[in-house]
Amino acid sequence: MIRSLYVLLFAAIAGLVSCTSTLRPTEPQHAWVRSHYGTDKDIDKGYTLFIANCSGCHSLPRPSAYSDSTWAVVFPEMREKSKLSDHDADLVLAYISSASALAKAH
Ligand code: HEC
Repeated sequence: MIRSLYVLLFAAIAGLVSCTSTLRPTEPQHAWVRSHYGTDKDIDKGYTLFIANCSGCHSLPRPSAYSDSTWAVVFPEMREKSKLSDHDADLVLAYISSASALAKAH
């Protein structure tokens, strides 16, 4: 009984890790940011801020679930709600844009 609980727990944790790791910034995302903005941005920090600030009121949104034009409207509203500084909001948006662009390219 105890043993099967451990197995279940392990499966749950493994599921969680593999799920979130698909959202973690990849090297192609960094390359997209460099070519899109003409400079590198710390999208690893953008990702951490995204997880910390965008999953409190609702589940974490998938960047590619929304078009660029929807993000352009929704993001300014949500950054107000999450009270991100200009600098941090910029990193979160760069993360979301790169994740969304690459997911849609596949
Ligand atoms: C204080 C609560 C709160 C925080 C923090 C928050 N949201 Fe939201 N979010 C909402 C509410 C409420 C809605 C639904 C109503 C609306 O669109 O205003 C929503 C809706 C959304 C939607 C769906 C919009 C649509 O049109 O379907 C997205 C995408 C989203 N949020 C992204 C984010 C992101 C990204 C962040 C972090 C920067 C964030 N949210 C932080 C409260 C929050």
